[in-house]
Amino acid sequence: MTVSAEPEVNVELYSRSGFGGPFTTIVRAQYLPDFTRAEGSYLPRRFQTWELADEAFAGAHALPVPILKGDGLAIEVNRLSGPPAHAVKNVAADELHFVIDGGGELDTMAGVLQVRAGDFVRIPRGIAYRWNSVTAPIDEIVVTTSSEITVDPQNAPGTFNPDLHLDVATPHGRPGGPVDGEYEVVFRHGDELTSYFFDYDPLPCLDVKGAPPVVRINIEHVHGLAVDDGGLQPARLFGSVSGRDLLFGINSRRSDRPPVHHNVDYDEIICYAAGPTPWGGVDTPGTVTWVPKGVLHQGPEEDVHPGYKAWLLETRVDMTATPAGLGIAQIMETNQYGVHPSNEQSAVSV
Ligand SMILES: [Fe+2]
Repeated sequence: MTVSAEPEVNVELYSRSGFGGPFTTIVRAQYLPDFTRAEGSYLPRRFQTWELADEAFAGAHALPVPILKGDGLAIEVNRLSGPPAHAVKNVAADELHFVIDGGGELDTMAGVLQVRAGDFVRIPRGIAYRWNSVTAPIDEIVVTTSSEITVDPQNAPGTFNPDLHLDVATPHGRPGGPVDGEYEVVFRHGDELTSYFFDYDPLPCLDVKGAPPVVRINIEHVHGLAVDDGGLQPARLFGSVSGRDLLFGINSRRSDRPPVHHNVDYDEIICYAAGPTPWGGVDTPGTVTWVPKGVLHQGPEEDVHPGYKAWLLETRVDMTATPAGLGIAQIMETNQYGVHPSNEQSAVSV
């Protein structure tokens, strides 16, 4: 008598609006994240941001380098070995800086912050800022969005506690004095720059009242919550007024591995921020993974020890890798987020 083997069972989650639902589960024998190869440009990728050449950041007015771009949204990489001579004012986008490495004193029109690794710093549009000092070389990811970035802690207690861990830039409490030569403020307006010059320091303020424009949280205050069974909604940290962008802390945590899922409404961009434990195929801080909408994926186990730190940007914007981004990217497999085996051949043809 022949006994037929039970088929392998894979449970896929098909959800609309990301974690917002409605949810559908589809049971299938095949494991669809495994594709043999792909032709075209709509591909999941891993970006090794540390591989951008120093020269990309060396010009007098060098700006962060975009690796992913979409309508009004960009993921940029920045590297600073010392303080630039000028301030920057982005008049077209809010900026969310995430410091992977390094730190220093960030001066802004709304106060001063001592910045360190693991910090998210929101600098809204129209607020000029300048690094007063760089105490250790800075590597950072900058999310720029034409929408307004909101501080939006949800899914407590996993998210940060704003009463304890939301830091506000400290007003200078002094006037801005004269400067040697000129003080330059570079306005970013889209892809163009315009410089304004002053014979005094325009940044210091005497006081700030009302809603603080420049705020900071550190990723260490996103907690690794534990659940005994099932999944767990990650900790939301920031959003945008448009509703199209959501940023979550996804540090390691005790939870079931994510199911295979179809996230058809959001591109998923993850930054592996710190170890010591690898997250599946990702083990280097500064690795950015990108899964475009509708590309089936599972993603690595999150329940690892002693752990790692990471964050996830979900966006309804259709993102595209820039030429600079493609230069430091590899095609990614969507099981463990390692380098896809077809990468060598596909990298040549794509
Ligand atoms: Fe996902």
